[in-house]
Amino acid sequence: MQASRKTIQTKALREYYAEVRSYTEKLCEPLEIEDYIPQPVVDVSPPKWNIAHTTWFFEEMILKKYLPGYKVFDEHFGFLFNSYYNSIGDRTARDHRGALSRPTVKQVFAYRKYVDEHMERLLSEPPAVAGGITQPSIDAREAATTPPHPDLTAPNLQPPATAGGSDLVDLVILGLNHEQQHQELFLTDLKYTFSTNPLFPVYREGYAPEESEPPAIAGGLTQSSNNPGEATTTPHHPDLTVARLQPPANAGGSDIAAGVYEIGFVGDGFCFDNELARHKVYLDDFTISNRLVTNAEFIEFIDAGGYTDHRLWHSEGWDWVNQNGIESPLYWQIGNAECGVRSAESTDVNASEWYHYTLGGLRKLRMDAPVCHVSYYEAAAFAEWKGMRLPTEAEWETANEKFNWGQRWEWTNSAYLPYPGFARAAGAVGEYNGKFMINQMILRGASVITPPGHSRPTYRNFFHPHLRWQFTGIRLAK
Ligand SMILES: [Fe+2]
Repeated sequence: MQASRKTIQTKALREYYAEVRSYTEKLCEPLEIEDYIPQPVVDVSPPKWNIAHTTWFFEEMILKKYLPGYKVFDEHFGFLFNSYYNSIGDRTARDHRGALSRPTVKQVFAYRKYVDEHMERLLSEPPAVAGGITQPSIDAREAATTPPHPDLTAPNLQPPATAGGSDLVDLVILGLNHEQQHQELFLTDLKYTFSTNPLFPVYREGYAPEESEPPAIAGGLTQSSNNPGEATTTPHHPDLTVARLQPPANAGGSDIAAGVYEIGFVGDGFCFDNELARHKVYLDDFTISNRLVTNAEFIEFIDAGGYTDHRLWHSEGWDWVNQNGIESPLYWQIGNAECGVRSAESTDVNASEWYHYTLGGLRKLRMDAPVCHVSYYEAAAFAEWKGMRLPTEAEWETANEKFNWGQRWEWTNSAYLPYPGFARAAGAVGEYNGKFMINQMILRGASVITPPGHSRPTYRNFFHPHLRWQFTGIRLAK
């Protein structure tokens, strides 16, 4: 009986590992070999680096420590694919990741295979994972079945529930969540790189998650239907999309009464260390919008001179707008010119219409879709223009069951700081989050390209306020 339970436990973690890792390779399928290399700006990493770095994480953090006799695939890869772990050693400069034509893409896939085979061996040894793993719940499996694209089915991307997991189990699950973070970066980084090409390459034909159907509108204070699984159930292929307009501006806010609430992760499942410790917060009365700001509303802001009115902007934001000539969200342009030439089908297009570059190529902006690719500065200026504000992260988390989320990472008014009781883990993984708790702003929710099973209401994402290559959006509060 014990042996059979152990087999099931081990199998759950191995399946989870295999599914998450194979999802990365599905993301690679549309790429041509040349797509794996370029890095036009420091913030984005080339696909080859992303898929090698996540593999290095398993080799460095797990195999070298836990698999007796393990030999690294290549002694140089630690230098090439370490991201920011000072306690592990020197590494390639971040802005130099695109300069690495070698190792080849073929070698990097061989590296992935080598590490996967050794992880499989490690996870197949019952003593290594004894006592920590149970099968994922049925609900968790169902929630994880949502594909972000019909070609990207993902049957089991939830971590198995852990009960007193061993250090090894915890590290494997951390490594898989790390891989999922890089799966989203894979797409956002590739989109940025493609956007700098005047041909505006198409990643997947017909795949424009930026335009996916707006989430169902929450009905007010009685609505409490959201869970991360539901929030990502929208079909993202245009063929499956049904137009559904959002309600007028400012309709559908939820009122939350003043009081003491608790935020932060609680439960037996996985969370990042920055979601701890759960703690009490006092909130005053507030109202939070049940939906995200749309492209149509953001165009009103542009047309009203939002980008030229210094009164709406933080000082840093105003400098950013002027120094970079910012006039719209990232990837927007007037008209559909590629390489400066209008396509044949565009002859009847109004040159004043907004287009945007998507993972499906250059497309006409869909007015009812949530605005995407805005910086914190733009989100805050828009809120100021509306006479409202962004929610704090405590407000967002407290109210999250009142609305559907999961389309955009939502900027909050909260700086990225440690929660009371936060503690850095020992060893290299202690560098995962804590050292970045300075000069960044919190985003909550998830986006339409966040991998299935990789979101929860306590998740704390964070970026510098000027960055906007992630799928970022705006929810208002007052
Ligand atoms: Fe990483």
